[in-house]
Amino acid sequence: MGWLEGQVALVTGGTGGIGKAIVRRYVAEGARVGVMARDSEQLSVLRMELGDAIVTIQGDVASYQDNQRAVATVLEAFGRLDTFVGNAAVFDYFTRLDRIAPEDFESAFQRLFATNVQGYLLGARSCIDALRESRGSMIFTLSNSAFYAGGGGILYVTAKHALVGMIRQLAYELAPDIRVNGVAPGATNTPMKSLEGLNQRSVPLNQIPGFEEGAAQSVPLQRIAEPEDHTGHYVLLASRENSGLTTANIIHSDGGWEIRSAGARSPRKP
Ligand SMILES: NC(=O)c1ccc[n+]([C@@H]2O[C@H](COP(=O)([O-])OP(=O)(O)OC[C@H]3O[C@@H](n4cnc5c(N)ncnc54)[C@H](O)[C@@H]3O)[C@@H](O)[C@H]2O)c1
Repeated sequence: MGWLEGQVALVTGGTGGIGKAIVRRYVAEGARVGVMARDSEQLSVLRMELGDAIVTIQGDVASYQDNQRAVATVLEAFGRLDTFVGNAAVFDYFTRLDRIAPEDFESAFQRLFATNVQGYLLGARSCIDALRESRGSMIFTLSNSAFYAGGGGILYVTAKHALVGMIRQLAYELAPDIRVNGVAPGATNTPMKSLEGLNQRSVPLNQIPGFEEGAAQSVPLQRIAEPEDHTGHYVLLASRENSGLTTANIIHSDGGWEIRSAGARSPRKP
């Protein structure tokens, strides 16, 4: 028996690095999953892999109508919703405030926040009734950039910090019916894309030369995360049996960023 037998989840950004790993793990734990993402081709490939265990929704998380359609599709296919995972986001390729042309700022801010913050809130808003009915939970993908500087540029880090407050306030507003928690991954081997047009040098995250080595060297556990490293936390937080009294909590999954100056950086033994 899996930990999520009989449960139903909706995962946004479910075709990306971390989202796809969550979807696969949820299915392996016995859940049926609605997968929302922008790219219909990638959604079709995932549907071929996972079959009737998933339904796919092509849409933009920044749109309330698309979020509503995603929830309606899941309810129609599976009859209930137990867990909403807000996960879709874009990066800013470490772009500093003084490198954003003032005339581009308003548009860049609105586009990044529309996906990374508004997208989470609209997803949450669309799920409230269904999650109240199931006494389910929400789980949001944050980042070490929700707590520390330097893991992104000004827009990404500001947006991720805002989500800490969002989780606390949502947990406050939705108790006792719905638990609200987060997972904060550190650097992870995915092709996360940056906001279009913000930085001409931008490439997908795991194509930055030296990204993997740099990420490994900056944390005590000395390796970059693979998307699968985080998925157990999403299972735990979705499981009423195993985390039924946990809300307003954020699990760090980042190789020990908090204690990164601790201990000797001796090379790993073979
Ligand atoms: N990769 C990392 O190092 C890292 C570290 C910490 C946190 N995160 C967070 O993990 C989450 C997933 O990122 P990832 O690394 O898997 O990136 P990814 O680019 O591989 O996946 C992102 C997914 O979100 C989707 N998406 C983006 N904008 C969307 C929109 N407007 N509407 C619908 N779908 C949209 C993409 O299609 C894709 O499926 C994000 O919240 C990111 O901030 C990533």
